[in-house]
Amino acid sequence: MTRRRAGEHWRHRRLTPAIYDFAAEHEPLARLGGRVLWGADVRALYDSFAEVGALPPGSAVLDVPCGGGVAFRGVPAAAGLRYVAADLSPPMLGRARAEAGRRGLDAAFARVSVDRLPFRAGTFDLCVTYNGLHCLPHPAAAVAELARVLRPGGTLRGSAVVTGAGVRQDALVAYLRRRGHFGDPGSAADLHAWLEAAGLRTAAMTRTGALACFSAVKPD
Ligand SMILES: C[S@@+](CC[C@H](N)C(=O)[O-])C[C@H]1O[C@@H](n2cnc3c(N)ncnc32)[C@H](O)[C@@H]1O
Repeated sequence: MTRRRAGEHWRHRRLTPAIYDFAAEHEPLARLGGRVLWGADVRALYDSFAEVGALPPGSAVLDVPCGGGVAFRGVPAAAGLRYVAADLSPPMLGRARAEAGRRGLDAAFARVSVDRLPFRAGTFDLCVTYNGLHCLPHPAAAVAELARVLRPGGTLRGSAVVTGAGVRQDALVAYLRRRGHFGDPGSAADLHAWLEAAGLRTAAMTRTGALACFSAVKPD
């Protein structure tokens, strides 16, 4: 089997990202996929999207990688947030724009790599990074970059596939790494270490199957 460079898949492909996003946008399908593939109950993940909409109007939010905009469901059109949705993949950004249009969400879109964000330090009140860190070759660098653009007192929230949940899930991670879908995912303990090394204080870390959900705060 040909080994592809980590991240290449997302940069160039259209079909599997579209299939992934279709499932992500249909929660019952995502629940089934989460259970079958990762032994995970993704309901907490979908619940956490709603917390974005609870921010005060005027808050600045960075959603990267936004994919097709699955987190937009948590943001009422009238929330008055300054919402930036960013991703490496033009097709995914196209899907996210269409999703924002359907939801009436006023968002800015940016094609960026999460480990090189074109934003000044301290720009965002909240950064969300759902289901993306495991796609990256250097997830710790991405966490550090997200921490940089967060304002003191701001929160980084997200989820990622992690290793160590079981033999079957680890074999699937290894397969997806060989195919270039995944980068270099770590364990939940690695994820915790990346957050702390970036100067964040981990406020919550829960694991369901191979899916870890976390939130971390940048100290004032
Ligand atoms: C599994 S999807 C998750 C998307 C979305 N957050 C969700 O939960 O459905 C992974 C996303 O990461 C994006 N991606 C991969 N490498 C990236 C990078 N270096 N910078 C930004 N986005 C990246 C892909 O284009 C894809 O949209």
